Amino acid sequence: MIQYDNLMIPIPVNLNLKDGKFVLSKNTKIHSAESVANLKHYFISYFSENFGVTIKSSKEYLIENSINFKLDDTLTKLGPEGYELIITDEHIDVRSSGEAGIFYGIQTIKQLLPRDGDISVLNREFTWEIPCLIIEDFPRFTWRGFMFDVGRHFHSIDVIKRVLDLISLLKMNVFHWHLTEDQGWRIEIKKYPQLTEIGSRRKDSKIGGWTSKKYRGQPHEGFYTQEQVKEIVQYAKERFITIVPEIEMPGHSSAAIASYPEVSCKEEKIEVPIKFGIFSDVFCPGKEITFEFLINILDEVLDLFPSEIIHIGGDEVPKKNWKSCSDCKGRMEEEGLEKHNELHSYFTERISDYLKSNGRRTIGWNEILDEKTDVDVIGQYWAPTGKKQVLKHIRKGGEIVVSNFFRYYLDYNYFVTPLRKTYNFEPIPRKLKKENHEQIKGVEAPIWTEWVPNTARLDWQVFPRLAAVAETAWSLKQNKNYKSFIFRLEKFNQILDSMNVNYASSDEVNPKCLKRFINLRRALKWPEV
Ligand code: ACM
Ligand code: ZN
Repeated sequence: MIQYDNLMIPIPVNLNLKDGKFVLSKNTKIHSAESVANLKHYFISYFSENFGVTIKSSKEYLIENSINFKLDDTLTKLGPEGYELIITDEHIDVRSSGEAGIFYGIQTIKQLLPRDGDISVLNREFTWEIPCLIIEDFPRFTWRGFMFDVGRHFHSIDVIKRVLDLISLLKMNVFHWHLTEDQGWRIEIKKYPQLTEIGSRRKDSKIGGWTSKKYRGQPHEGFYTQEQVKEIVQYAKERFITIVPEIEMPGHSSAAIASYPEVSCKEEKIEVPIKFGIFSDVFCPGKEITFEFLINILDEVLDLFPSEIIHIGGDEVPKKNWKSCSDCKGRMEEEGLEKHNELHSYFTERISDYLKSNGRRTIGWNEILDEKTDVDVIGQYWAPTGKKQVLKHIRKGGEIVVSNFFRYYLDYNYFVTPLRKTYNFEPIPRKLKKENHEQIKGVEAPIWTEWVPNTARLDWQVFPRLAAVAETAWSLKQNKNYKSFIFRLEKFNQILDSMNVNYASSDEVNPKCLKRFINLRRALKWPEV
């Protein structure tokens, strides 16, 4: 087991520290094959922006005092995301069978670079000393995700780019973009302009937490144009991140219904909500116009997002309005459905079949899973109450992404979810048979933003817990060690400092038991920002 090394997060599979240092300076050269020249340029700009030195290129491989990136077919055993990193006093050599692997090797180098305080000044030139070592590394899970709810509070594309930079540093590869919510529709859809003209704006916002009665007293609005979405998709691609868009349906859809009431059961004009919670205005599965509307939206979404996997939400769907709707009643008779839950299954099946016919796969929150769910559909396991359905889906051959509510929901404070608990969470259920372990595609930590109106609050909620999730996502289970993680976190936090990330401090992240108990009520209260 690797312990107490002040190196990097996530901890690599194999790491052999050697004697000696590689000295990076303005005389260092960088080489890459033409096929990975983009990665060379990525590293050159990163280094120049962060350390003020522009590293020059070399045409030759492994010359003295050089950094080298090379695709190497002999390393296929490490997978396309795996890499080998060899640092000697003469050169740095990153090799992988895939471009992603080289990218992750670069993320490791970024974490090895000395930060403020460690920089030595020789002859008035900066140099950066990096320890000699050999690393062989590959991820445990293929899905290493972070979810960002931009519906409750809109966050600009600059914030999204910063998030993508941060998650890529942690070798995470899925950005689940929760784009639609009751309180705001955040993506431009050309065929339905009211979705953003009406749905992206609300008159006010509740502040201070679930039990509060206060409001901010100002409107809130924002959406991403399709051009901005394309820019983000490209930015993510350059960081080997897949953007999985979520268009939430049939619940959490008040903003869409405020824009187009005809897709709801009651067809009544409503306003975009200014409170948070679960609302009974949901899409009406009895009306054909609802499916026409959602499929037209999905067509534009599919054009924007190359991701094979598309998220359709599916959580927290009150059936109240369906029960008194003549269209829903008609649909149930026509389809021979007895319970209103079956109407949700019918809805999911129509949408997921449509996505499938377009070469995509559906993912949804665990509420979409039941006996009839297509085995191709991926369940996102968040609610403890969904465990039975999740296990059934796995037994059937289905795949699951784990987002445990009590461990991975980063919107709760550290009294509710201390860092240590997040770190020590094991995503593969203990009783799951070994032959089914591969069906756990990976893990994802969501941040819901009811009480997250700005970047400072976002940073505090997310860091350092996301680093803990990332280590579970990437590192071998047997290499994980909380003490070692905390030790390495100090170095990681220096990088966060350089990016002005407002992470929670070490004395906040693991409140003592008694303090936790006394302060649990704070789960419902938030600063009034
Ligand atoms: C959820 O937290 N409602 C998925
Ligand atoms: Zn209806």
